[in-house]
Amino acid sequence: MWAEGRYLIIWLCFQVNFSPVFSDVWMADVVPKMNVLVSSCVVVPCSFKYPGEKQSRSRIRGIWHKIKDSKTNFIYHPDSTNILENFKGRTKLLGNLGSPEHNCTLEIDEVRDHDNGPFCFRIEIPNVEMYSYSQNCVSFTMMPKPEDPKIVKIDIFEEGTAASLRCFVTHTCPSHPPTITWSHFNSEATQSTRYLDNGIWEVESLLTFTPTEEDDHTKITCSINFHGNKKSEATARLSVKRKSKLTHIIIPIVAVLGSALLFGGICYFMSKKYKRRIQELQSRNENGLWNRMSRMSRR
Ligand SMILES: *[C@@H]1O[C@H](CO)[C@@H](O)[C@H](O)[C@H]1NC(C)=O
Repeated sequence: MWAEGRYLIIWLCFQVNFSPVFSDVWMADVVPKMNVLVSSCVVVPCSFKYPGEKQSRSRIRGIWHKIKDSKTNFIYHPDSTNILENFKGRTKLLGNLGSPEHNCTLEIDEVRDHDNGPFCFRIEIPNVEMYSYSQNCVSFTMMPKPEDPKIVKIDIFEEGTAASLRCFVTHTCPSHPPTITWSHFNSEATQSTRYLDNGIWEVESLLTFTPTEEDDHTKITCSINFHGNKKSEATARLSVKRKSKLTHIIIPIVAVLGSALLFGGICYFMSKKYKRRIQELQSRNENGLWNRMSRMSRR
């Protein structure tokens, strides 16, 4: 019983670890659906497997065709005379068929309204085998207008403190990525690109700048220029909080202290002066007016 269990586990391990070695299957890994901008380009990620002996790159012919008829509907073929008229000069096999992952990545440039597909990969190994991977094809949804970019920023900037804004957009054309420009501060921006998934890429521009008082309530625009010359943009409004400068604190303090000193000084001199006057009056009264008045009242 134990021995059987162990054999079962070993057998399972072999299945898991070495399955690619024994996978005598025709299989292609192609992104099934993509949204594509008309006039731009699309790069379709693709890899494939084939049974039997490994062939050298020069022996494998990689072809892409419309699903209808693999005999005539070539959209890519190593012999360009075989390519459909309206795809001539627009398609490229970017992938290396002889690479370990058998890369069959396809590029279609100057995408047109009716390039919807589905398009399927096919290999031909002369005198050995030919096969169309018709179960794993790609179709496109055409976008006549590009996607608008998104701007990410903090709500309120602080005057004099460096801050950044991010503007990003997705696309399917990594061979000619879109360019991003800002309406101002352009020299402080850096562009980067990353792969998301399913043939979708993201370009991003990171703008770092130090806002001033004048930037408060102004608008900043991020513009995207896609390959094929379509454009889109997004606008954000800047709010800048003024920095409480040192002079803003010192001036009122000086003013308050100054007037307090002045007022205190006046009080001091006044009280001194009046004390003297009062004493004078009191002494004068004792033998002057007061005495006279009291004498008069006694009469
Ligand atoms: C296939 O080739 C394309 C184009 O050269 C490349 O961008 C991609 O990374 C390759 N795929 C893999 C899985 O290596």
